Amino acid sequence: MIDLLLDGQPLRVAPGTTVAAALCLGGDGSARTSVDGRRRAPFCGMGVCQECRVDIDGQRRLACQTLCRTGMRVETRP
Ligand code: FES
Repeated sequence: MIDLLLDGQPLRVAPGTTVAAALCLGGDGSARTSVDGRRRAPFCGMGVCQECRVDIDGQRRLACQTLCRTGMRVETRP
């Protein structure tokens, strides 16, 4: 199993889980907050729409294109 932090909360997922899937497993499924304050969620799941942008260990990444790693810190809120 893989242990990571999602918005500061511990989360355990199975190997091979994408960060986008982890957002659903451990959070509200949202990846970020838009400029007008609404939560945004992954849409295409294949690296095109950019709706799944999250901060992973301080770097902006696409959640649907990133596999979870042990010790990863994922942030969806500014
Ligand atoms: S869900 Fe569309 S780029 Fe990740």
